[in-house]
Amino acid sequence: MVERTPREQVEMMRCLNHNGWAEEQLLPLLTPVEESWQPADLLPCFSPCAGDEEQMVTMMDLEELQARAAGVPDDVLVCLVGNMVTEEALPTYMSMGNRVKGFADETGCSDLPWARWLRGWTAEENRHGDLLNRYLYLSGRVDMRQVERTVHYLLRNGMRMVSPSSPYHSLVYGSFQERATFISHARTARHAALHGDRCLAKICGVISADEKRHEVAYTKAVSVLFKADPDGMVRALATVLRGRITMPGQLMTDGRDADLFEHFSAVAQRAGVYTARDYCDLVEHFVRRWKVEELGAGVLSGEGRRAQEYVCRLPRKIRKMEELAHDRAAQANKEPKFARFSWVFDRPVRI
Ligand SMILES: [Fe+2]
Ligand SMILES: [Fe+2]
Repeated sequence: MVERTPREQVEMMRCLNHNGWAEEQLLPLLTPVEESWQPADLLPCFSPCAGDEEQMVTMMDLEELQARAAGVPDDVLVCLVGNMVTEEALPTYMSMGNRVKGFADETGCSDLPWARWLRGWTAEENRHGDLLNRYLYLSGRVDMRQVERTVHYLLRNGMRMVSPSSPYHSLVYGSFQERATFISHARTARHAALHGDRCLAKICGVISADEKRHEVAYTKAVSVLFKADPDGMVRALATVLRGRITMPGQLMTDGRDADLFEHFSAVAQRAGVYTARDYCDLVEHFVRRWKVEELGAGVLSGEGRRAQEYVCRLPRKIRKMEELAHDRAAQANKEPKFARFSWVFDRPVRI
């Protein structure tokens, strides 16, 4: 088994750029601008609006938006703010994308398909933070200054990622991230609908649909690489999973709560917006989707076989650890625990 060097991995990416694959398979997964929703379509309009035919939903006015938002409980607001802050750190993610060898936009306006994808992806993602930010501002339900301060901190702090310049690792990470955000926005949409906020449900729903489309793109690219270099890919997958898929918002702080990300994650876990179980399902999903179990010994090196074994056993291992942690927490936490979030004016929220 000949191991591919990082240079050969980059060559592989270049090949997808030039052999028509990225052009034909990836770029059609971006929505043309003219067909794309924009934040203005989903929020009250304060200026003379374009004709109704240009808007996706019937506009509600500010009064109705605020009346509906009044019914959203604090735990859902905390999940929403955490998701919004994560979306707003988009400059970090674009700069990470441009660090990936063979994928990067070398000139800033490169015509190569990967570079066009990265810019198009960024443009689509940019609407997510804008839309959530504007909804939260208009809702009057959160301390906007504290939320904005958290975004500011997160952008200054950046993000940690295993092998940020490796195309294999980055595409695996991207697949997991897009699916994780698809799940958490979809669940927030469900909570919003349940509490009678149809505006917020629609907002989280359209964002979630974008994340799904982006997940398809990265997952497809990883599938192609698994066919071309199964040994390199299974080792990359194992490396990324060994580091655990750390969330891009992990370094967030509001300047007051040193454990803000842990507290936000605990609220998301309790609310069922994104849970440890989801993480486990994600690993299982991708192991199946990329047919990791079916990789024959003939295409794997010794290290590749060990990586395959690790990845395939991981879901069961995580599930067992979660059960143990759950039992321990049930015994230890007879008393409910709360954390105060500056985002919701320091009100305590159960964690
Ligand atoms: Fe997003
Ligand atoms: Fe995304």
